[in-house]
Amino acid sequence: MSEEVIKLKIVDVKTDFKAYPIYIQRGIINDCGKIIKDIYSDRKVYIVTDTNVDKLYGERLVTSLRQEGFEAFIAKVEPGESSKSFQSFEKLCSSLLKGGITRGDLIIAFGGGVVGDLGGFAASALLRGIKYIQVPTTLIAQVDSSIGGKVGININEGKNLIGNFHQPEAVIIDPELLTSLNKRYLADGMGEVIKYACIKDRGLFQLLKEKDKALSLENFDNIIGRCCKIKADLVEADEKDKGQRMLLNFGHTIGHAIEKYYDYSKYSHGEAVAIGTLHITAKAETMDLTPKGTQDKIFDLLKSYKLPCELPYMDKAKIREIVLLDKKGSSDDMKIILLKDIGEGYIHSIKKDEIDKWL
Ligand SMILES: NC(=O)c1ccc[n+]([C@@H]2O[C@H](COP(=O)([O-])OP(=O)(O)OC[C@H]3O[C@@H](n4cnc5c(N)ncnc54)[C@H](O)[C@@H]3O)[C@@H](O)[C@H]2O)c1
Ligand SMILES: [Zn+2]
Repeated sequence: MSEEVIKLKIVDVKTDFKAYPIYIQRGIINDCGKIIKDIYSDRKVYIVTDTNVDKLYGERLVTSLRQEGFEAFIAKVEPGESSKSFQSFEKLCSSLLKGGITRGDLIIAFGGGVVGDLGGFAASALLRGIKYIQVPTTLIAQVDSSIGGKVGININEGKNLIGNFHQPEAVIIDPELLTSLNKRYLADGMGEVIKYACIKDRGLFQLLKEKDKALSLENFDNIIGRCCKIKADLVEADEKDKGQRMLLNFGHTIGHAIEKYYDYSKYSHGEAVAIGTLHITAKAETMDLTPKGTQDKIFDLLKSYKLPCELPYMDKAKIREIVLLDKKGSSDDMKIILLKDIGEGYIHSIKKDEIDKWL
């Protein structure tokens, strides 16, 4: 037996509405039943997952729930972004209702960001709101989408335009589940991890430079914990996206534009964010808003994780339109996130008509 005892890490997220724990531990999937028993006293649990995650880990989750006397019902959706649609939302709600779900039951969103957003949205809307727990299974979901309570689906007019804030009762993160994740999704998540390091955690940035060490399972606990803590602190400071939480958007103005310009097919979110972090920093350096040399440090790190660095071709007029649509709201100002240094992000206001300088 291993001598090492891995401490269960709990990060508390306090929002305007409530506080909830984030549990991070390797192998914790086998103890989900026990953890849930502490926070939920009824018997019926509805797992929302996709068919890939179900095949890999469904049985383990169900077993851990049954061991604690829960009655578990599984609703499966197809893997992939297309499941964040009205059609899948409706199908999912029907399936949960046919399975006998009532307002007092519990939903578990068990999967990547797609399942988290869709399952969380169903939990927020079905029967006017049902309690839910996030059990994220991709890196991006473990460090980002499962925390903060943003849930939603897509509509033809845009991504995530139909949604809600619905905070989970808890987030249960098992870094071991990432061992089955393919390389591209792992790199995709690293795009967000590097973003966290840039805005708030210089030490994490240093750690990431030692790639082999950083990617060892042992360090993954640490890395995920640090990212969750940063997100939890920023969300806690600002639950409704107005102030400090904006730091999380570092690299996202350009990132979202790239994703959208290429119709969400060529670049994943983390890849587009990686390009965004580098290019907003490069621009800021030319305007003396970020110290020279910062972009080189980001470039080296992105490259080592095989993340794209090159800004793809985009028509300027079209990209301006996309950015302005992304920065909805009537004010003439818009906020962008820049770095004072690695590990120190700040909010910078610009006039919307200055946007061309940044593209
Ligand atoms: N709500 C938020 O705050 C927020 C933040 C960031 C991203 N998102 C959303 O997250 C979504 C992207 O999430 P994603 O990248 O996790 O995509 P995803 O949920 O589609 O998962 C990616 C793929 O990995 C598979 N998979 C999941 N876990 C696995 C595992 N442990 N082993 C092997 N395969 C596994 C899935 O079946 C899927 O095929 C987007 O829709 C994005 O808008 C939301
Ligand atoms: Zn993001």
